Amino acid sequence: MSLKRISKILVVGGIVFSPMVKADMEYLKDVKGYLTAQCSLDSSMCESVLKAFNKAVTEKSGKRFKASMIRLSTSESITRLNTELGSSKKAAQRKCKNLKGQEFENCLNKTYKTRIDVLFGGTDGPYRGALEDNIFATYNYPNTGIHPWSAKLTEDSDNRLGAFYMGILGMAYNKNVLRAQKLTPPTGWADLGKSDYKDTIGVANANTSGTSYKYLSSMLTAFGSEDAGWERIVANHKNISQYTKSGSAPCKLVARGEMPICIGFMHDIANLAHNGAPIVGVAPAEGTLFEVGPVAIVLGSQNRKNAEAFAKFLYEPATQAALEEGGGRQFHVNVASKVPAGAPDIASVKLLDAPAKFGTKSFKKSVIDKWNTDIFPMKR
Ligand code: G6P
Repeated sequence: MSLKRISKILVVGGIVFSPMVKADMEYLKDVKGYLTAQCSLDSSMCESVLKAFNKAVTEKSGKRFKASMIRLSTSESITRLNTELGSSKKAAQRKCKNLKGQEFENCLNKTYKTRIDVLFGGTDGPYRGALEDNIFATYNYPNTGIHPWSAKLTEDSDNRLGAFYMGILGMAYNKNVLRAQKLTPPTGWADLGKSDYKDTIGVANANTSGTSYKYLSSMLTAFGSEDAGWERIVANHKNISQYTKSGSAPCKLVARGEMPICIGFMHDIANLAHNGAPIVGVAPAEGTLFEVGPVAIVLGSQNRKNAEAFAKFLYEPATQAALEEGGGRQFHVNVASKVPAGAPDIASVKLLDAPAKFGTKSFKKSVIDKWNTDIFPMKR
């Protein structure tokens, strides 16, 4: 991808846009009652964003407000929501099937039964796939003063998804462990399949983690054909020492010296390095995909207005500050937000474009099914 294209996707600094929401955040003063969120960022980031929201609402409304939150990996979060909707989803399918447009959405909204109001954070793939489940409400997500990658997700999803951050998938190694094991650092995805790296690599499990699906998607995009990508996935699998539930876990193990190499998001790696760990991030030579971190309001939410206010709050520079406090060094959606210290250098990354089918439920399912049946059981 050309530098021009990258800067179109990621307009960082230099250009002054008018902030899209007033810093006074007056819309928070009407938030009251409850809000239950499912978050797929790292728990520390989930907690600091929620804490910032609670504080801002309490200040604006003059009444103590406390939203609750459950942390789940991205695919796990979508599965849990669908499971919770359970029989009410079946009832809605019958009741609403002859309706169209807004009437269809209103009918689903009335029939669904859920305690979850909003989903936020995680990778875009599972959220895009879930659009086919009809579980997200339309909302006028902020559309000025934001980076184009966010507006694109909102447009692609017909206003059912917002996006409040962007991150780049990469890999990392622990320089001390690598030196002790007399291994040379990897430079790209193909290196991860080398026999020298037997039992050295950590990546997350594709059934739960959005990071893992982004990894598989990068492999299927980076080598010219999907068949060539699957061959690389097999070669890498033979060297995997651990598949974890959450996407950020492998690089935390690498930072602690418990594993030599990991696959993960470069902003998480940058954060571990910034905090003093002997971890070095690598932008894969063959190119890599980026994530956009979504927000979605759940149809059937009993606290719709609160969920909308929360979604809007995620676009505020105050959220960028909260993410950074929780260790988040990803690029925030608001052009007025500052780029966090230690954030990855975008100019050094070859960014790839994933074909649109990677965001469909059926394609995602076919990739994960193949991973479960053909790859995971294979002897390592
Ligand atoms: C970390 C990253 C996020 C990413 C998330 C995905 O929190 O900082 O940028 O969206 O992991 O988590 P998952 O467990 O679904 O791979």
